[in-house]
Amino acid sequence: MIPHIDQLLTEIEQYTAQNKEQLEQFKSQYTGKKGVLQDLLDQIKNIPAEQRKEYGQQVNKIKEAAQEKLKALTEQLENLQAANVNKPHDLTLPVIPDGLGALHPLTQTTRRVIQIFERMGFNISDGPEIEDDWHNFTALNFPLNHPARDMQDTFFISKGSDNDMALRTHTSSVQVRVMEKMQPPMRTVSIGRVYRNEAISVRAHCLFHQVEGFYVAKNVSFKDLKDTLYHFVRELFGNETKIRFRPSFFPFTEPSAEMDISCHICGGKGCNVCKHSGWVEIGGCGMIDPNVMKNCNIDPEEYTGFAFGMGIERITMLRNQIKDIRLFTENDVRFLKQFS
Ligand code: DAH
Repeated sequence: MIPHIDQLLTEIEQYTAQNKEQLEQFKSQYTGKKGVLQDLLDQIKNIPAEQRKEYGQQVNKIKEAAQEKLKALTEQLENLQAANVNKPHDLTLPVIPDGLGALHPLTQTTRRVIQIFERMGFNISDGPEIEDDWHNFTALNFPLNHPARDMQDTFFISKGSDNDMALRTHTSSVQVRVMEKMQPPMRTVSIGRVYRNEAISVRAHCLFHQVEGFYVAKNVSFKDLKDTLYHFVRELFGNETKIRFRPSFFPFTEPSAEMDISCHICGGKGCNVCKHSGWVEIGGCGMIDPNVMKNCNIDPEEYTGFAFGMGIERITMLRNQIKDIRLFTENDVRFLKQFS
């Protein structure tokens, strides 16, 4: 009836599979949609009616044999794989090296900033990220109704009757903490996270980093401030960098200024980074307000001081020509890899 039935059965019987591919090959050859079995089933319509019964029995025999074989081969292969997993590792194989990691660009900037200020005799100080109203606002001479205290800008944690707790909105709070504890001369920088309730965009984030620095001693002048920052930006952005100060206002400094540096991309000629002005802003600064000194029990008649604050993200974006502040917190390896 099926002339080569014995040959077919022997073939199936003797089939061996060492791997997945050979197992797949068996399926497609015998049990698959285009396999032998299907072919035999398709032919049933051409078989004369009186022979169909016998034909069907033979096809069934082949089907059973093929299914049994498939089961056996699958089991065999699974056992083989399990045995391989339990084999000891081949220690003589060559090593595939992992890609080397790199410091996050913000860490790189932070370390460089610290290095520059340490060389100028500044030490490093630190303060909490969860801060009270006194250190973040009141001691820094913010009037009670100042808009920065508003829910719009500050993440409040608890509204106490006499002292609110909030995520610090700037590292100037560390200024207060250090001045309360130490006596002049004091020269210190503090770098850390700050938080503001702002919509996240290309230029703004609700979480970023600042460096705050200040110097309090006898006869500290605005010239000292200028010299310090001038040296800093030339170290960080190169010797050709120019600096300019624009009058501004902060509650904790008087006089206050915003500082710009000449655009280190175009050298001041004008480009996209500096919006064709030749200058880019990098932070605020000024002479510490006598009220702030008094709040920290330092006599403003005897001592004067300067302070400054800059954004670490901002500096890093300028240093590395990064156009989107959100990249710093997205942890995309393709971005981070560029800084190794
Ligand atoms: N705290 C200010 C801010 O967050 C930055 C700043 C400005 C710090 C002037 C200062 C300063 O120490 O003198 O925007």
